[in-house]
Amino acid sequence: MKRVVSGIKPSGDLTIGNYLGAMKRWADNQHLDGYENFFFVANLHAITVKQDAGLLRKRTFDIVAWLLTVGVDPNKSVIFIQSMIPAHSEICWILNNYVTMGELAKMTQFKDKSLKSGKEGQFVGLYDYPVLMAGDVLLYDADEIPVGMDQTQHIELCKAIAQRFNNIHGETFKIPKATLSKTTAKIMSLNDATKKMSKSESADSFIGLDEDPDSIIKKFKRAVTDSDNKISFSKDKPEISNLLTIYSEFADKTFDEIEKEYEGKGYGVFKNDLGEIVSQKLKDIQKTFSEIRDDEERLKNVIAEGNSNAGIIANEKMNVVKGILGLA
Ligand code: TYM
Repeated sequence: MKRVVSGIKPSGDLTIGNYLGAMKRWADNQHLDGYENFFFVANLHAITVKQDAGLLRKRTFDIVAWLLTVGVDPNKSVIFIQSMIPAHSEICWILNNYVTMGELAKMTQFKDKSLKSGKEGQFVGLYDYPVLMAGDVLLYDADEIPVGMDQTQHIELCKAIAQRFNNIHGETFKIPKATLSKTTAKIMSLNDATKKMSKSESADSFIGLDEDPDSIIKKFKRAVTDSDNKISFSKDKPEISNLLTIYSEFADKTFDEIEKEYEGKGYGVFKNDLGEIVSQKLKDIQKTFSEIRDDEERLKNVIAEGNSNAGIIANEKMNVVKGILGLA
C-alpha cells in the first residue's frame, strides 16, 4: 500500500492554480487501487503570516468544504487539521536538529518573502516553515506528495532531512517523492506568464474559486497574450499556452482539439469562450460549496474522524522517533 500526503494553507482565497495543481488531482487520483490518501489543512503554516483568529478558523472550515466540493471523499481519503495533531509541532522541533541554517536560507520562498523587509526582521516561523512541512510528510511515511511546482524545493529538503536522520539513526523515515502534474504543476499569472498564479499577487492576476462570472470573464479578456493571434501550445508562447492549459482542464478537451476548434479565430473569441467555460464550471462548483459549507456539523464530523485516523499514525511514528532519541 502506498501513501499519498499533501496539504493546503488556509491563508486566503483559493485560486484555480490551487485547484488544478493540487486539489483536483487529489480528488481524481484518490480512486487508484493500492493508495491511501491523507489531505490536511496546514493552519500552522498559515500563522507564519499574522492571521485574525476568527477568520483563520472560518477559512479552515472553508478548505475542508472545498475539498469535499471538488470530490475528495472522506471515505477514501483522510481529511484532517494539522494543528489538531500535536505530533506535527513536536516532530518539527526534533527535525530542527537535522537541518542547517544554510539549507533553510537557500529556500526561495523564504528568500522571496524576506526580500521586502530583510532577513533579520523575519520571524523564525517563516524560516522554519520547510521543516514543519518535512514533518507533515515524514510522520506518515508518505510515498508520494502531489504538489505544484512551487513546493518541490521544500520536498527536496524534506528528503535531505529524512536521509540525514536515517544515516545517523538507521532507517526511520521513508524517503518521499513529489509528484507533479505534467500539465498543471504551474498555472501562471494572467498578467505575467513568468510568475505562478498566486493569491498574494494583484487581484487581476488570478481567478479565485469563489469568484463571480462577470469578474472571471473580464479577467480572461484582459489576460496578457502575445501579438500573433494564433491559438497554439508552445514554449515560445507562454501566455496563450497557460490559457490553453486552463481551457483544456475546464473543458476536458485536449490541446489538439482546442487548437483545431480555434483555427483561424483570434485570441478575442478564445478568451471570451474561456471566460464562459470557467465561470460556468465555477458557478456549479460554488453552488455545491455553499451547500456543503452550510452543514458545519458534517464538516466537524469529517474533521474529527480524520484527526482521529491521522493521529493514530502520527503518534505511532512520534513514539518510534522519541524512542530512538531517548526521549521516551
Ligand atoms: P499552498 O496552500 O500555497 O498551495 C496548495 C497547493 O496548491 C499548489 N499551487 C499551485 N499549483 C499549480 N499552479 C499554481 N499557480 C499553484 N499555486 C498553488 C501548491 O503547489 C500546493 O501543492 N506549504 C504548502 C502546504 C503544505 C504542504 C505540506 C504541502 C504544508 N505542509 C506537506 C505538501 C506536503 C502550501 O503553502 O501550499
